[in-house]
Amino acid sequence: MRVAVLNGVNLDLLERRDPALYGGVSLAELHSRVTAWAVELGCTARCRQTNSEGEYVNWCHEELDWAEGIVVNPGAWSHYSYAIRDALELFSVPLVEVHLSNVDQRESWRRHSVIADIATKRILGRGPDGYRDALEFLAQP
Ligand code: DQA
Repeated sequence: MRVAVLNGVNLDLLERRDPALYGGVSLAELHSRVTAWAVELGCTARCRQTNSEGEYVNWCHEELDWAEGIVVNPGAWSHYSYAIRDALELFSVPLVEVHLSNVDQRESWRRHSVIADIATKRILGRGPDGYRDALEFLAQP
């Protein structure tokens, strides 16, 4: 299975953000773990991160013809970007929304996700392992 993994705004500085919330790993380490987990599960993962909302939307469009499953962590955009919601709504393949931290137990503005209702599954507060859970979910027969 081909899986697109799209990380969004501020996830490039993951290792500098609160390790209690985000696990203390770098984005490079996260992407390397995701790539290895995907191989174990017989999948191919294409991992990308951007701080540009327009680029994120363009990547969603690109993945439409490639991905058989999609894992997204749009970061703060999850809470307000209808542009990203509209782009993700184009997918007909399963979509997993991942957040490293448990956004449902943080500030009230983080408890709302504009993509929650179009996600096939949501994984919150599992740190980097949440991405493995997402791949396992997508890879299951
Ligand atoms: C996050 C949660 C968001 O609220 C936050 O803006 C992020 C990271 C997470 O993975 O826990 O940047 O998506």
